[in-house]
Amino acid sequence: MHLKARNLSVTFGQVKALQGVTLEARPGEVVAIFGANGSGKTTFLKAVAGLVPVSSGRITYHGEDITALPAHERVARGIHYVSDRARVALRMTVRENLDVGGYLRKPAERREALKKVVDLFPVLGEKAPSPAGILSGGERQMLVIGRALMGNPSLLLFDEPFLGLSLEVRERILPVIDGELRGRTTILLAEHDLGAAIRLLDRYCVFVNGELIHEGGRSEVPTGERLHAAFRRFYQQAGEESPEREDR
Ligand SMILES: Nc1ncnc2c1ncn2[C@@H]1O[C@H](COP(=O)(O)OP(=O)(O)OP(=O)(O)O)[C@@H](O)[C@H]1O
Ligand SMILES: [Mg+2]
Repeated sequence: MHLKARNLSVTFGQVKALQGVTLEARPGEVVAIFGANGSGKTTFLKAVAGLVPVSSGRITYHGEDITALPAHERVARGIHYVSDRARVALRMTVRENLDVGGYLRKPAERREALKKVVDLFPVLGEKAPSPAGILSGGERQMLVIGRALMGNPSLLLFDEPFLGLSLEVRERILPVIDGELRGRTTILLAEHDLGAAIRLLDRYCVFVNGELIHEGGRSEVPTGERLHAAFRRFYQQAGEESPEREDR
């Protein structure tokens, strides 16, 4: 569904983490947010999820002003933040972790959702009775994504979903986002993995020091050498090295 953030600012003490960001994601669109470390990507996603308070600005979702809505009420409206650290409840089983994601749904819907998630990530079915603590990093990432899907999200806020994943795991997760979610679920994607983001995005924007300094459509994303040159420039504006990732 349609997300609009207008003039959003977030401050942490003296730190201006976000400064007047205006950004919108239309229903079903994948919008990538690029930016160096500390440029405000996570802060933006968390502000939309209601996990950090905004100091000014306005967020509307599906026409409703949600700026002051507590996080759990945003979850009830289908807004799910998927954290970059694959945080799962380690002592709960894989199955219980998934059930937490579907806690607002009727039992029949939850069973249906579980079937689908296990279809998408069979390993979660195989390890359903095991504590989530035994999962590898890649499997935990599948679990956090699966848990979000259990809630029937209409807006997914992905915070670096490919961070630290092996190529193999990345290739298992990418098609799920590209196939199952694309076009159905609105997605904001903060990502340093340019190759993965470029495969998914409809539009992109670039944050530098908490400000949105550039945005463009899919056809405007530079490719090959130009991509690296362009992003090196953006990262340098923030006084950072660009991430050393291959352009896969
Ligand atoms: N809870 C907090 N308290 C104080 N400062 C914070 C807090 N969270 C973020 N910041 C600061 O806000 C700025 C933006 O941080 P944020 O985590 O949004 O960046 P990011 O673009 O997600 O970076 P990364 O690519 O490293 O994940 C940084 O200067 C950061 O130090
Ligand atoms: Mg971040």
